[in-house]
Amino acid sequence: MEEGERLQKTLARAGYGSRRACEILITEGRVTVDGRTAQLGNRVDALTQTICVDGKLTPSAPGAVYYLLNKPEGVITTVDDPQGRPTVVSLVDAPVRIFPVGRLDMNTEGLIILTNDGKLAHLLTHPSSGVAKEYLVRVEGDPSPAAIRRLREGVQLDDGMTAPAQVSRVSEGVLRLVIHEGRNRQVRRMCSAIDHEVIRLVRTRIGPIQDATLSPGSSRLLSIGEVRKLMDSVGITENASSTMPS
Ligand code: URA
Repeated sequence: MEEGERLQKTLARAGYGSRRACEILITEGRVTVDGRTAQLGNRVDALTQTICVDGKLTPSAPGAVYYLLNKPEGVITTVDDPQGRPTVVSLVDAPVRIFPVGRLDMNTEGLIILTNDGKLAHLLTHPSSGVAKEYLVRVEGDPSPAAIRRLREGVQLDDGMTAPAQVSRVSEGVLRLVIHEGRNRQVRRMCSAIDHEVIRLVRTRIGPIQDATLSPGSSRLLSIGEVRKLMDSVGITENASSTMPS
């Protein structure tokens, strides 16, 4: 028996349309496998090979699951906690072992992705991925326009200057921040650097993923479309991903 699955079947399962539509993608030369243009009749192993359509990675690993959780305050971002505290993983009823992508502090609320797809997790948390993360922040006092400008332009933290950020004042003492880095306690430290300690921090968006209807403590599966948008947002090409350490 021939090894692997027919490429058009893998692509159809990943949401690229019917098998016939996927055959057309292949014959148009828009599909690559491990960096080489695919041919009709190719068989693939989506777990180990890098498959791209129009240069973008496909979410094609069989058995991969992707959840979006609205993390409540007081829950820790880890797989399990020796002290028995609630973890993000314990809040998601998944049939397979999953892990969080990146981390939110115990007192931070909001959106976090959990998956068993190590490839996507690595791409999303890689410093070069540059995926935007949006936060709503309640701070002590009411930052002045000059303080907000400092946040936008970059502030000095003990591990270096922060990159330019989008910052806007939503209401008195409430800011919306969009950052592309993922340093430890970054938003708290940025606000501290302008002398406005964080009172409450909520992540409201991860790249293209947002969901204002998900209540704290609830989770849901990401749709195929959302996973595809997430893959697109990491902006890493097939060449970078195929040389990525596993
Ligand atoms: N920035 C922080 O300070 N904390 C988080 O949990 C996330 C971003």
